[in-house]
Amino acid sequence: MIVLAVESSCDETSVALIKDGKLLSNETASQIDIHGKYGGVVPEIAARKHLEYIIPVFEKALEKSTIDLHEVDLLAVTYGPGLVGSLLVGLSFVKGLSISLNKPFLAINHLMGHLYANFITFSELKTPFIVLLVSGGHTELFLMENMKSIRKIGQTRDDAAGEAFDKIARMLELGYPGGPAIEKAACNGNDIYRFPRSLRKKDNIDFSFSGLKTSVLYFLRENRDAKKEDIAASVQAAITDSLIEKTFLAADKFNVERIVLAGGVAANKNLRNKAEITARKKKKKVYFPPVELCTDNAGMIAYVAYKKAKRGDLSPLNTNAVPYLTL
Ligand code: KG4
Ligand code: ZN
Repeated sequence: MIVLAVESSCDETSVALIKDGKLLSNETASQIDIHGKYGGVVPEIAARKHLEYIIPVFEKALEKSTIDLHEVDLLAVTYGPGLVGSLLVGLSFVKGLSISLNKPFLAINHLMGHLYANFITFSELKTPFIVLLVSGGHTELFLMENMKSIRKIGQTRDDAAGEAFDKIARMLELGYPGGPAIEKAACNGNDIYRFPRSLRKKDNIDFSFSGLKTSVLYFLRENRDAKKEDIAASVQAAITDSLIEKTFLAADKFNVERIVLAGGVAANKNLRNKAEITARKKKKKVYFPPVELCTDNAGMIAYVAYKKAKRGDLSPLNTNAVPYLTL
């Protein structure tokens, strides 16, 4: 089965082809340089750039895959969550392809894509496991008891971890997106400032990052000479400590051995290292996809589509964008 998938929920225009679960191509055009000027994604500009990029990216992905368009069996696309204008570009494009090629259509949840990026890499991954889903808009813990049952067991009470990285990077004038910028600056700094790790009560598996944000703001007012790199290293340590602590607490609480990291923030090396070290200590196993499959890409969407289509799932062509779709 050959699936062509499109992802355009935020500021990456991505097209992938997958054959029987194996990625043939996964091409992404980033808009980072454009939105960087504004310190964050401008929804109206993002939608217009998707329109501009989608056909060239589609042609490149098709060429790399060496598949003829008429060999494609299924067309898939992200329908939420995300920016409505951005989602609509991908949806309209893929619906158009489905009609013109007379091939079935499948709408995919972006968050499911992040989770399934792990199955592309670890086909042997078995349930039950805890999922830490950390991206620009989400910081949530799930218990996946089996392939049909996924239960939310914890979440952020305010900002997502990615949002905290992005907002603090903006305060530090490190550029957008903030996560990679803070990670890069942190490489040349030391974790010497103690920023808050919130909700540290023993049994609590929710997150909170707004206190950290405020704390950095006040710190900057009072410590104008502090090295940005040291602040970056200290902020990164505070965020990753919270994420790791709560995730392993959840694994203990639900007596689960396996832990899966998913979403853009899971690309962070400090987070990945801490996860591996803690897993070794606690005799648990941790899984995370390669960096290029952590951030937004159509490969992860194509893989979910492949799995769903094998079960016989299809979507109606009147499926609309759902900006606040949940897992
Ligand atoms: O999953 P994603 O690409 O898009 C959403 O669905 O939101 O995640 C984007 C978020 C941004 O907040 C970005 O700063 C963060 O993931 N991010 C990182 C890293 N790479 C991306 N955060 C920390 N370290 C990174 N290396
Ligand atoms: Zn994402």
